[in-house]
Amino acid sequence: MKSRLATTPFYLSLRFQLTVAVCILLSVLIINAGLSFYNEQQRRNDQTTLQTTGSVKQLLTALVRRSQLYAAAAPRDWETYYRDLKMYGQELTDIITELNRQIPQLHTLSPELQARWQGYSAQIKRVSGNPEEPRLEAVANWVGEHKDVLKALGEDISSHTRDLIQAQINVQRQVNIALLILSCIVGLISLFILNRLFKKPLNHILQKLSYLSQGKEGEPLKVDTQNEMGQIFSAIDELALNLNTTFNLTRSINQATDIDSALCFVYEEYKQLLPIDSLCLIRRNNDGEAMMLERVHGNRKVDISENRSFDPTDCDLSHNASQACLSLLQTDADWQRSTSPLGQFLHSSGLNSALFFPFENDNGTILLFGSTQTEAFSSKHIELLQNAGGQLQHAFEKTELVENLVISAISGLSKLAESRDPETGDHLDRMSRYSMILAEELAQEGPYQQQITNSYVRDILRFAPMHDIGKVGVEDRILLKPGRLTPEERTEMEFHPSIGGEVLQRCEEQLNASGHSMFSMGIEIAEGHHEKWDGTGYPNKLSGEEIPLSARIVAVADVFDALTSKRPYKDAWPVDKALKLFEEESGKHFDPEIVSAFNRALPKIMSVYDRLKHV
Ligand code: C2E
Ligand code: SIN
Ligand code: SIN
Ligand code: FE
Ligand code: FE
Repeated sequence: MKSRLATTPFYLSLRFQLTVAVCILLSVLIINAGLSFYNEQQRRNDQTTLQTTGSVKQLLTALVRRSQLYAAAAPRDWETYYRDLKMYGQELTDIITELNRQIPQLHTLSPELQARWQGYSAQIKRVSGNPEEPRLEAVANWVGEHKDVLKALGEDISSHTRDLIQAQINVQRQVNIALLILSCIVGLISLFILNRLFKKPLNHILQKLSYLSQGKEGEPLKVDTQNEMGQIFSAIDELALNLNTTFNLTRSINQATDIDSALCFVYEEYKQLLPIDSLCLIRRNNDGEAMMLERVHGNRKVDISENRSFDPTDCDLSHNASQACLSLLQTDADWQRSTSPLGQFLHSSGLNSALFFPFENDNGTILLFGSTQTEAFSSKHIELLQNAGGQLQHAFEKTELVENLVISAISGLSKLAESRDPETGDHLDRMSRYSMILAEELAQEGPYQQQITNSYVRDILRFAPMHDIGKVGVEDRILLKPGRLTPEERTEMEFHPSIGGEVLQRCEEQLNASGHSMFSMGIEIAEGHHEKWDGTGYPNKLSGEEIPLSARIVAVADVFDALTSKRPYKDAWPVDKALKLFEEESGKHFDPEIVSAFNRALPKIMSVYDRLKHV
């Protein structure tokens, strides 16, 4: 089977989605770390700037103070002048040099402030004249006169720097807030993605598994992720469906008491999983000479007729039956290659895919799953069937056993009734064949078409012989009386339908505890075969469609055979006379639909009559 993982586009794969999520998280972390380093560097710069600013301010103050001191005690002679030149002059030069060095270092300082200092510095230079013999007093006086602007410069520089740093801190704060928000968003998105990718799917799966362990199917999982999780979803869903089908099948098939209902259950359960339109059972017939396409169940798209036999050497059949291996016809090429009559029959009945599923160690039983679609079955479907194969086979074998049991119980009971009434020897045989012919005719045409399925026809054939089973409770004196019955005798005779219904009801209770009715049609027939369409029959005076269809069918068949046979109390009637009676009684004793079906099917009825009538 081809892995569905391989077909997922890479961008939907869990690995890819997780990698993207982790990459986004990592980039946010890296941006954060980078910004922290940048901020640290920034703070170092700020520190240096603040130190320099402080030192500039001090230098400016020192310049003013020294100049004021000098101006207050200006030299009176050359000796003091030279001493001051050494001290004050040197100091002045040092301070100005230092300011000239430090102020340009304040890169963040505005050009206006820089220019102000350069202006002062140039003026001092100009006032002091020759650097070898500076005019110290002039300088001191100039500084004294400009002490306010010099101090103001110091203040301006320091407040400018402070403002600048404050502004930077504000920007940084905003960047930090933005980063915090971004981190939160990325974090939330990651959580959301993780939740979507893992938590929700895992919860779904857990819930599903808990349903499964309780044997419930639960809601199908909603597959909204197409990644590996989504695939796990669908796989679990599929598993749940398969398991559930198996559970249901096991449960329902245990209630099946005949092959038809088993086939029906299998069809109903598997049609959810497989694209099937029909399900057929092919078995070797009793003498082993032929393979019979025995039972067909399915929707109305396909019309495969039942009870067709095929040569067991037909290649499709023999291949399957002998090797017990599954085989498949589902492409045009397959159908062309299969020259076997069975293959051709199936294809011409409307199947475009046929899956033959043979039972193991079973001499030739094959389940045939058919579909009108071409190439309907995938390897997954086949795998599913192979897994369920043992189960299916077991169920069919069990059901067949029960069906055989029911059939032998029925024929035993019917023969018991028959043995009381030797004259009716072939009556059961004939009347049940007539009943089946009527049912088949009604399935072809008229208002009962929908009601009469293949299995209904089979049940009619199976249960019609039980109609008079209640006669076991009627005294020989009355049952075998050679003449007409007295009213009292007649009254006793009219108990036989109720007795029959009761006998079968008891049989059913004995045989079956599972609640599924095996004998329901037998009971209908035994109780209802003497009811009349106009409501004048017995025992319940039912009328029209209140009388079960099976009982109405059997009534016609029974009376036809009673009339055309010899009874202890009467001679056999010729067929014409019986037909005339039917015409009169149509709509009175008998359902008119069934009388007309009888007339349509008369050739078939007559062929049974001719073959089996009492001579
Ligand atoms: P059965 O002999 O199997 O007859 C089944 C039904 O066929 C009868 O139901 C009746 O509807 C119809 N039928 C049979 N013979 C005649 C006939 O000569 N003329 C007409 N018009 N219909 C006929 P039914 O009448 O309810 O009788 C039920 C069963 O009671 C019969 O089963 C038979 O076993 C017994 N029975 C009825 N009448 C007599 C009778 O006069 N003498 C005796 N010994 N048994 C009778
Ligand atoms: C049907 O369900 O229509 C057919 C039933 C059957 O073939 O047994
Ligand atoms: C009868 O036996 O009383 C007549 C039955 C019928 O109406 O066919
Ligand atoms: Fe009867
Ligand atoms: Fe009868």
